[in-house]
Amino acid sequence: MRAVTYHGTGDFRVDTHPDPKIEHPRDAVIRVTTTAICGSDLHLYDGFIPTMKKGDIIGHEFMGIVEEVGPEAAANGNLKKGDRILIPFTIACGNCLWCRKEEFSLCDQSNREPEKLRMMTGAAGAGLFGYSHLYGGYDGGQAEYVRIPFADTTHMKVPEGMDDEQVIFLTDIFPTGWQAAINAEVGPGDTVAIWGAGPVGLFCLESCKLLGAERIVVIDDVPERLALAERRGAAVIDRSKVKPYDVLMEVTDGKLPSKCIDAVGLESHGAGIIDTVYDRVKTATFQETDRPHALREAIMCCAKGGIVSLPGVYAAVVDKFPIGAAFAKALTFRMGQTHVLQHTDKLLNHIREGDIDPTFLITHRGGLDDAPELYRTFRDKKDDCIKVVLKP
Ligand SMILES: NC(=O)c1ccc[n+]([C@@H]2O[C@H](COP(=O)([O-])OP(=O)(O)OC[C@H]3O[C@@H](n4cnc5c(N)ncnc54)[C@H](O)[C@@H]3O)[C@@H](O)[C@H]2O)c1
Ligand SMILES: [Zn+2]
Ligand SMILES: [Zn+2]
Repeated sequence: MRAVTYHGTGDFRVDTHPDPKIEHPRDAVIRVTTTAICGSDLHLYDGFIPTMKKGDIIGHEFMGIVEEVGPEAAANGNLKKGDRILIPFTIACGNCLWCRKEEFSLCDQSNREPEKLRMMTGAAGAGLFGYSHLYGGYDGGQAEYVRIPFADTTHMKVPEGMDDEQVIFLTDIFPTGWQAAINAEVGPGDTVAIWGAGPVGLFCLESCKLLGAERIVVIDDVPERLALAERRGAAVIDRSKVKPYDVLMEVTDGKLPSKCIDAVGLESHGAGIIDTVYDRVKTATFQETDRPHALREAIMCCAKGGIVSLPGVYAAVVDKFPIGAAFAKALTFRMGQTHVLQHTDKLLNHIREGDIDPTFLITHRGGLDDAPELYRTFRDKKDDCIKVVLKP
């Protein structure tokens, strides 16, 4: 089969691999019908996530049709050949303490190489598709076929009559935006500030709308992304022209927003020359791994007693983290990989009811062979690219 394959930083190719097979009675193998490129894939592409190996298959936003199913997956998950299913990017065993609490991204059983992540973080979270050997070294979904471990508890059936593009983002970015918003306890009357108008920031915006936020401000400097956020109902701040702090002070009569969401993560761009150069030097000399500009700004811009919610991914360590500001303002932090299946039923319902059409952000479509080119387009934000969908 063909699959998008890691060869090194900035070097993803489409290679031929052996077709996946059932390896365990709880496995299934699916034929991928739609897959998408995520901002998280860019962290692999740009070399920010350690333990990638040449030949690893990328991709964690995908769906398809069951080709083959192991006996236990068939019996426990009511899965059969021909079923159309969505695959959450977090692999869930369904039985461990965390899965029983529906905190699926913390699954204790699905990361088959937990030692590396445990050494880095103290305790390993779930296995993820196509996301390095820290997260289990599983093959990803930017491929023709994928093996799904724990398939009986790692899927969601697609209702009749819904096409792939209507539901594909339930595999990751829609639940991620939603979890960020509920982590921030967004509700009626709230002013929310969102850093990043990429796909995740845009789904944070949509989720805040569904939760009844009064005013939503989105911060970025990519014109077409800000324009889309504006068309979707946000007030926007172009951080290349004005200081987000000044604008947020003004629009909240000096109170600042009490809900701040960092939907940028570890590759954020700097807020001014000194800040940018500082973090470039620190990361280049391995004194920090992640660039926390947006996070620093979100902390400074958050109201007293507010909540800072981080859907944006952080990998290891950051420098000049304004812990004093967070302490002085008694801020609450919430973060983590998304517990995808915790949210999918509710969000599917919103799609069916017509509350949201999740296809609004798709700008680019292609086949698997177009992936290397589309990775560059997406990373460089060329050609007004916001979200790429691939049909293997
Ligand atoms: N928590 C999860 O489970 C989960 C799931 C999916 C994605 N993510 C993460 O969410 C983040 C965003 O994903 P995406 O697909 O939207 O990525 P993206 O790269 O397309 O978007 C990031 C946006 O942030 C903007 N940006 C950069 N620096 C900024 C700054 N200082 N201030 C404001 N905006 C800034 C960029 O211009 C870009 O538009 C990534 O870190 C990704 O890994 C997390
Ligand atoms: Zn993703
Ligand atoms: Zn589990």
